[in-house]
Order: sequence, then structure tokens, then C-alpha cells
Amino acid sequence: MDESVRVGVFICDCGSNIAGFLNVPEVVEYARGLKGVAFADEGKWSCSVDYLARLKEAIKQHQLNRVVIASCTPRTHEPLFKQSVKEAGLNPYLLEFVSIREQVSWVHMGQPEIATQKAKDLVKMGVAKAILLEEGEEVRLPVKTDCMIIGGGIAGMTAALHIADQGFRAVLVEKDVQLGGLLNRICRVAHHHQTIPASEIARTKAALVTSHPNIKVYTNTEIETVQGYIGNYKVTIRSKEDNRRETLDISTIVVATGMREIEPVGQYGYGEDPRVITQLQLEEILIGMSKNPEPRAPCLSGRQARSELKIKDVVMINCVNSKNQSRGCCNLGCPISVKNALALKEINREIRIHILYRDLSMVKEEHFDLDQAKSEGIKFVRFPDDRYPVVTRANGNLSVHVHDILLGRELEIKSDLLVLTTAFQGDDTVEKIKGLLKVSANSDGFFQEAHVKLGPVDFPSAGIALCGCAKSPKNLKESSEEGTAAAMRVSIPMKRGYVEAEGIVADIDPTECTRCGLCYKNCPFSAIQLGDDQQPSVIKALCKGCGLCAADCPKECITIVHYSDDQLLAQVEAALEEKPGEKILGFVCHWCALGGVDMAGVSRLQYPPNGRLIRVMCSARVPVKLIERAFELGAAGVLVVGCEFPTCHYITGNYACENRMERAKKKLTKRGFDPTRLWVAWCSAADGPKFAALMREMVKQLGLS
Ligand code: FES
Repeated sequence: MDESVRVGVFICDCGSNIAGFLNVPEVVEYARGLKGVAFADEGKWSCSVDYLARLKEAIKQHQLNRVVIASCTPRTHEPLFKQSVKEAGLNPYLLEFVSIREQVSWVHMGQPEIATQKAKDLVKMGVAKAILLEEGEEVRLPVKTDCMIIGGGIAGMTAALHIADQGFRAVLVEKDVQLGGLLNRICRVAHHHQTIPASEIARTKAALVTSHPNIKVYTNTEIETVQGYIGNYKVTIRSKEDNRRETLDISTIVVATGMREIEPVGQYGYGEDPRVITQLQLEEILIGMSKNPEPRAPCLSGRQARSELKIKDVVMINCVNSKNQSRGCCNLGCPISVKNALALKEINREIRIHILYRDLSMVKEEHFDLDQAKSEGIKFVRFPDDRYPVVTRANGNLSVHVHDILLGRELEIKSDLLVLTTAFQGDDTVEKIKGLLKVSANSDGFFQEAHVKLGPVDFPSAGIALCGCAKSPKNLKESSEEGTAAAMRVSIPMKRGYVEAEGIVADIDPTECTRCGLCYKNCPFSAIQLGDDQQPSVIKALCKGCGLCAADCPKECITIVHYSDDQLLAQVEAALEEKPGEKILGFVCHWCALGGVDMAGVSRLQYPPNGRLIRVMCSARVPVKLIERAFELGAAGVLVVGCEFPTCHYITGNYACENRMERAKKKLTKRGFDPTRLWVAWCSAADGPKFAALMREMVKQLGLS
């Protein structure tokens, strides 16, 4: 041990929250005897202003260069203590936090002696890690003010306007010859009991965009290459008209590539019978596109349309390719069918229209349309989930056979025009854009956000946002709102002028590195780049410190600041120094898993005291070798807990962990350890009962009770 290390241990009573259930003076005395500890103190309320002043004073007076706080949970109080340590002149990364309230006093309330012993162990583990702590620093990357928006539909145009209005430069790249996206292909938009021609909305918005001094528009243009990262992208675009290429310096990117219908080829006669069309094709008929190649042709109305639309019976079938095994509700189908049915009625009131549906998902003002549709005689027929309508053709006539749930009988409905309300998929450029930006999309070609709750318009890579139908089907209002949200997300670093990462980042030692490229391939944040010689290096400002790369590096040449292998190993060894056969060594991710542990504590759920938990930022950080080491030292069991799928705060960390734990079990078996003693679980931050039950069950199964 470095002899200059002087650890200060500060143990909190938390009033009686801790001191009421374990012997704090005994823990303080124990801490004083630990190797490396130069000072230990008990505080009544450690987070109070008075005690924080005392802590800062003690750091200076005793020349402490490492600090261990043993109190509540780091999830709430770590930033406060970090700040105090910093104010005392110490690097805040030299602080280690130990939770003896949520993990000890509140969950072992009737066992003061056992709780005291567990608190001592946790403090010992904290000190063992603190001795090895190194300084960390926040990393900054400059970000300028040029944003590229990919896609000129309503979401992209809205994003561009919001970015430009703030004084930033927006570059809008649209693959089609004109701005407007799907608005160019639909007749009208229903909004607040009014219908507005879609072309009018597209035209008005496009005029604002093209006349804005801070927006440069490229239409009929595609993205060819993207290199770099936030603040430093080089994007090559190519004009489809004359093949002219241009390379742009870009700082941030908004993806707004929109969506398209899933073609129901082979379903209900689509593709074989011209009378079977999709809703979008009906919209095209309604705007007269089939007759008039001018895309901005006005909606058909009155006599003109009536003469062109010689149909008497229209049947619409909803939920085609949606609400099935592979995808859920398409989100838009019901209001679209009602809107288009009303448009047909407006052209010719005599047209008989049946809308066949499973459930009508109509919300808020969409109900005005629904009421109107009913009052205009449009018939709604509800069919069962497992009995879709059947289309037949006899003597050239089209008819639809359907079971009406409400009438309880079969119906045969004549149809001159069968309109399928089909589900949606991402734009056909998604595959290419996905590869260029190194982001992911789901099987329907919709881009995947970083986190459904914490980053709904973010991609995992900093500086790239997504919005509108590029993410999932949305109506006009939702797409516009999300365009605004995406603009705001990318505006934050542009406004600040930099992006900053926490000091918990990966660091690659090139000496042993064999350039296998695994870290580059696996990083969920594209924070590892390969040099010309294939040598990986970390773009620190982009690294989130999940530790996935370090845990999987075959040469162990990646370390994570504040969660290095040595530090974690020191905690493992300290935890298992005494009576290892009675202990369960646990690794819990800082986010959901530790949240679940904390929730069990806050709820005062009592569970066996055998666990000794080690915090990691993500379950992906846990390397197989530490699990092996725990068993070598005689641990009764090892528990790894991460966030529930798919809510890992580092996107794919829990998936990586799950795979690795399978490998760990095989390795344990090979080495003669019982693999059933390694438990892996996924827990939400709200699921205290799950964590408590897990501990009870594990103790029981391992025969520790
Ligand atoms: Fe919880 Fe990744 S953050 S498993």
C-alpha cells in the first residue's frame, strides 16, 4: 500500500435511522484500526451544513487524501459529499460511498449485532477500494453550432426552425425533390374538429424553412458518409440531380427520416386486384395524384371528384399487419380510417362505407371525427381478434365476409373499393443511415431511442437526436412536438459550447492490446475509435463509463476510472476476508438494481444479512474473473443484479451481462465450482420487494438460513 495514503472515514448516525439499529461507535472504532485509515469520526447528521464544515476541516487538519462516507445511499447524497470533498481541496473522485442505512440499519432492524458486523464489513470494503482510488476529471469536447437535420418532413422542418431561431446554423437534407415528407402524400389533416389541407401545412412550413437565413436546405440529396463525433462530424452529401458532392462540418445531428406503409402484398388481394388499396393510396386518389402528376394538387372536391370516384361501396379493414405477434397497435390507423371515410363522404354522401375494426383507438379530439362519422352513416363493424375478415371475388365482384361481434352474426359486405389500414415501417433509408451513424433500429426499421424514459429523443451517441416517425408512427402534432424536443436536445451542447463527460471513463493501455477491435465493436456509445493502425482509443467525452469494454477485453488492458479491476477486487477480498462461507457477494448496477436495494431499505423490508454488495455503474462491468475470485475465496454465492430488460441505462449493458454470465457459469463448471451458486437477476428501481425476496430465496437455496 502507498504509505502516503491517508483515508478519512466518516460514519453517519442519520439521527436514529442508523444509530438506532446498529452500534455506530463500535464501527467507528473498527474503522480506526483499518489499514490506511488516518481518521474516523461519527456524525449525527453527516449531510448537515455544520457537519459538512467539520468534514472539510478534518480533511485539511488530518491531511486526508481519501474519504469514505458511510451513511445513506450514494444515489441521493453522493453529489453533495463530492462537492464538499472538492471544496476541501481534494479531487472528488477520491471519495468512496458506503450505504449502511438502506443496506444495513433499515433492513436488519431487529439484529443490532449482525447489523453492526455487516456495517463493519461494508466500511472495510469501502476503505479497501478508497486506498486504490485515483483522481478523475471531467472531460470536455468543444461543440460548435452547426446542426444537420436528416429528413424534411414536418418533424425535420420543425426541428430546423427551432434550431435556426436560436441563432444556430441548420442544414436540412431531404432525399426527395421537395420538403414536406408524408404531408405531400396525404389529403388533409384532422385537427380540432377541422380538416386542414396537408399541402397547405407543408407549403407554409416549407416557406418558413426556405426563407430562414440560418437554414440551408438541400433537397434531392442523400447522405453519403458520416465520420467523427459530436462537435466534429464530417458529412459528405451528394446531389441526386447532378451527383455533386459536398463535405460539411457538422456539430450535431437530428434524424427525422419518417416512415412508410408496410405493403400488404398478397393480403386481401392487394397487388392482384386494383380495387384493393392502402389508406395512403386512397389519400393519393383523394388529392388527385393519380390524375395529376403535380404533387401539390389540391384535394378533390365536389363534382370533379365525384366524377372521378365512381364507387358506391367502400370497405376499410383496420389493423392489417398490426396488433399481431410481431407488432402492437400502429397508433394511427383508426383515426386515419375515420378521417378518410369522412373525406369520401364529403365527396359523395351516397357512398356506403364500412369500417371493420378490432378496437377503435380514438383519443381526445379524434372523437369529434368519430361522432361525425357515425352521424353521417358510416358503419362500424367490430370483428374478433382471431377472425379477420375474408375477401372473396365472385363474378368480378368484391365482397368482404366478416363476423360482427356486436350483432353476433356473419355479414357479407359488397365492396367496390377495399382500403387496408396497414401498419408502418421506417423509411427505406434507415438501413443506410443506421450504419453511417452507428445507431440501432428495430425490426420494423424504426430508430431506437437511448432510453424510453430517460432519453426518449436521444440516441446513445451524444449529439444525435431523433424525432417524429423515424422513431415510431405519429400524427402531425406529435411529430411537430418531437421535432421541437429533438431540436432542444441538440441545442444544449451547442448553446454551452461543449459536451462534458463524468470522470468515470474507460482508459486503454495500448501495451498489451492486440487490436482485436472487440471494444470498438461493443461500445454502445461509439466512444471508442480505431486509429489507422487499428489501435483503439477512447473518446473520453463520449464515454459513459459503463465498463462493458473493460469486462470483455481479452487482454485486460482497459480500466475504468473509479471502477478499476483492482478496486473491485480489493472490495471482493475485503468482503470475503472473514466467514466467506456465510456470505453472498453481490454486484449491483448503480441505477435500477441499487434503486431496488434502496427501495427495499426505504420500505424497511427485512431480509437476511448475508449480502455484501459492490456497486458498479452497470451490470456489464462485472468481469468473469471477479466471480471466479469470489468463489476461490469461498463465497457461499455470487449475485449479479442489473436493470430489467430493456431499461439498462447504458442501452445494452444488461444484455452483455446476461451473455457473459452464461459464459461465467460454464467456466465455473469447468473449474469445479457449482454454477448454481451464481445468481443473475434483473430488478427495477421500484422493486424493493423483488430484491428482498431474492435475498431470502438465495439464502434459502444456498442453505445459509
Ligand atoms: Fe443497470 Fe446497465 S445500468 S444493468
